[in-house]
Amino acid sequence: MLIFTLPPALSAADSNEGQKKSSTCIACHGQQGISPNDQWPNLAGQKKSYILNQLKAFKDGARVNAMMNPLANSLSDQDMQDLADYFSQLKGP
Ligand code: HEC
Repeated sequence: MLIFTLPPALSAADSNEGQKKSSTCIACHGQQGISPNDQWPNLAGQKKSYILNQLKAFKDGARVNAMMNPLANSLSDQDMQDLADYFSQLKGP
């Protein structure tokens, strides 16, 4: 049985949650955050605040990319924190 709880406020960034939420990201950014091609950036080992800021910029339209804008639109602030936490902790190339 699944129990859903609504957190009253943002909880601390959680890389375990980030890993679960990264399933849609790894298609492009790679299983370990290392992209398989030349067009898509690596996320592994990137700075946490930078990742968070880019995701916010994609969501609010300040940064424009046809692939990332719709994806970021569906992320909550908590999702972005968790994802930034997760990818920043992966070992970079
Ligand atoms: C369909 C492929 C695709 C998927 C899926 C995808 N991305 Fe991206 N992502 C890209 C591309 C392409 C760029 C480079 C955009 C640009 O050139 O501005 C990018 C850029 C980024 C950047 C900025 C990196 C930098 O160095 O500036 C972040 C952060 C990011 N993606 C996070 C995510 C996260 C988190 C997810 C999952 C929720 C995700 N992406 C899913 C293709 C994808």
